[in-house]
Amino acid sequence: REPALIDGFGRTVRYLRLSVTDRCDFRCVYCMAEEMTFLPRAQVLTLEEMATLCAAFVELGVEKIRLTGGEPLVRRGIETLVERIGALEGLADFAMTTNGAGLAKYARQLYDGGLRRLNVSLDTLDPARFRALTRTGELGRVIDGIRAARDAGFARIKLNAVILKGRNDDEILDLVEFARTEGVDISFIEEMPLGQGIGHDRAETFCGSDEVRARIEVRHPLVPTTETTLGPSRYYRMADSDSRIGFISPHSHDFCGACNRVRVTAEGRLLLCLGNEHSVDLRAVLRRHPGDRERLKSAIVAAMAKKPERHHFTTDGDVQVVRFMNMTGG
Ligand code: GTP
Ligand code: 5AD
Ligand code: SF4
Repeated sequence: REPALIDGFGRTVRYLRLSVTDRCDFRCVYCMAEEMTFLPRAQVLTLEEMATLCAAFVELGVEKIRLTGGEPLVRRGIETLVERIGALEGLADFAMTTNGAGLAKYARQLYDGGLRRLNVSLDTLDPARFRALTRTGELGRVIDGIRAARDAGFARIKLNAVILKGRNDDEILDLVEFARTEGVDISFIEEMPLGQGIGHDRAETFCGSDEVRARIEVRHPLVPTTETTLGPSRYYRMADSDSRIGFISPHSHDFCGACNRVRVTAEGRLLLCLGNEHSVDLRAVLRRHPGDRERLKSAIVAAMAKKPERHHFTTDGDVQVVRFMNMTGG
């Protein structure tokens, strides 16, 4: 193992979020505009380039890789990339964030390839609302996908619910009940101001984690834990369930001081922070010097000096980052 990745504020980067595609079969209202154009194929990294990148990051001390999108399961050949990454020595946590629609088809192949943790986005349990929030998604397929993943061996499945006032905030307790019944964890997320023209006023839909937590506590007292998945979620436990309740609160409980992660977009742009534009073009390095992993690693090490201290998100509805979430990898 080589020297770890340390940024200008003394934080060590151990977590890579790799967006394998900007495409998605859903169009969630908080993530994309209704009309989106996607990247031309030539601009997207090949699976080979992605595998090389992951190997380089692991050699630089990264212990956790999460594949994101867009929707990772719409990338053709995703199972072969999973297998390549699953075989890397030194990786302690290999995970994916998915909308769940492709899990009935892919769960077993993913598990066999070495993927061990799945986060599945699920914001509502009402089929009509689900259609409205995702614009194209079908709730039944996602629920089938979650169950298929459990059957395939995934032991620690987590739901991600972005709570929007007036859209799904009346379902907080139902979502908790669903997580308890299915034996999965659930994280509640504050919406972040990425992307322009998403079709609702974020200042009006904002719902803070403290409010979500208070609504859960009416039925289930929550005990804070120090458990961590090395992500931004703060976890709580209920007395009578194994399900954990997490809160991701970029607005109300800033977690940037403990940031341990960077992102790589589907075009190979190394994004040093979700809430800023600082980035380094790793695709250029990969394509100018194919196979030269030392050069790639030098570029990654050098990029750490560009990692900003924090995001500057506000809840007033202003867009702080023009890039949409599907281009960012969540
Ligand atoms: P675990 O490995 O289970 O901890 O997952 P995770 O929370 O790291 O990843 P996931 O893809 O499930 O992301 C959940 C939410 O956290 C998404 O809305 C992400 O955009 C958000 N998130 C993850 N990392 C960061 C970060 O560094 N900054 C901010 N502001 N949000 C983040
Ligand atoms: N704010 C917060 N979370 C978001 N996600 C997508 N867009 C946003 C946003 N604007 C979530 C999805 C998915 C994860 C990768 O990011 O629900 O679970
Ligand atoms: Fe697709 Fe995920 Fe964005 Fe929804 S949040 S549109 S599932 S990439």
